[in-house]
Amino acid sequence: MDKDKKQAPGALFAVPLTPAEYERFGALVTKRTLSQMRSLYADQAAVEDRLAREDPIIYEVYELPHPYDETDLLVNITCLYPGRVGDEYYMTKGHFHARPDSAEAVIGLSGEGELVVQNRAGEVRKLSVRPGQISYAGGGWGHRDINTGNDPLVFLAISGANIVHDYETAARLNFRKRGN
Ligand code: PA5
Ligand code: MN
Repeated sequence: MDKDKKQAPGALFAVPLTPAEYERFGALVTKRTLSQMRSLYADQAAVEDRLAREDPIIYEVYELPHPYDETDLLVNITCLYPGRVGDEYYMTKGHFHARPDSAEAVIGLSGEGELVVQNRAGEVRKLSVRPGQISYAGGGWGHRDINTGNDPLVFLAISGANIVHDYETAARLNFRKRGN
């Protein structure tokens, strides 16, 4: 038998594209607070000032139940809250995909924002993220989302489940254009 052939059918499901429905379906919810990503913002005085008063949730990721195998897709929903730290908008940490260095598709569900991408040579681009639009970044583009609006930016991100998230490269390059 061909060892690359699946011996059993893969996962099969249909879930409405909202954080609440994902949660009802058993999604793992990860909350990222400002204190967990304090070094990403340019205005460190603004970070410290804010943290002295509160530690806001910047975004939540809703991840459908594992396990996935390498033929699956990650189909996570992110809810990125509106706000600023200094003059930068709230943003996700950002990462590259490694082994394989593969694509990501972002589909806006509500709110408005941008997908900031940067390649390893330092070139930066921005794609808008809005409901009914797909923003596609092929392999080699590290990616971060920013919320430029007044409402939560909710989006679906689709990538291969076999990627390794490389946060280290993204943190080191820290996207020349950040959250503004
Ligand atoms: O698959 C993706 O790229 C997204 O689901 C992100 O993981 C999500 O938006 C959170 O961003 P980060 O993983 O950079 O913290
Ligand atoms: Mn990704």
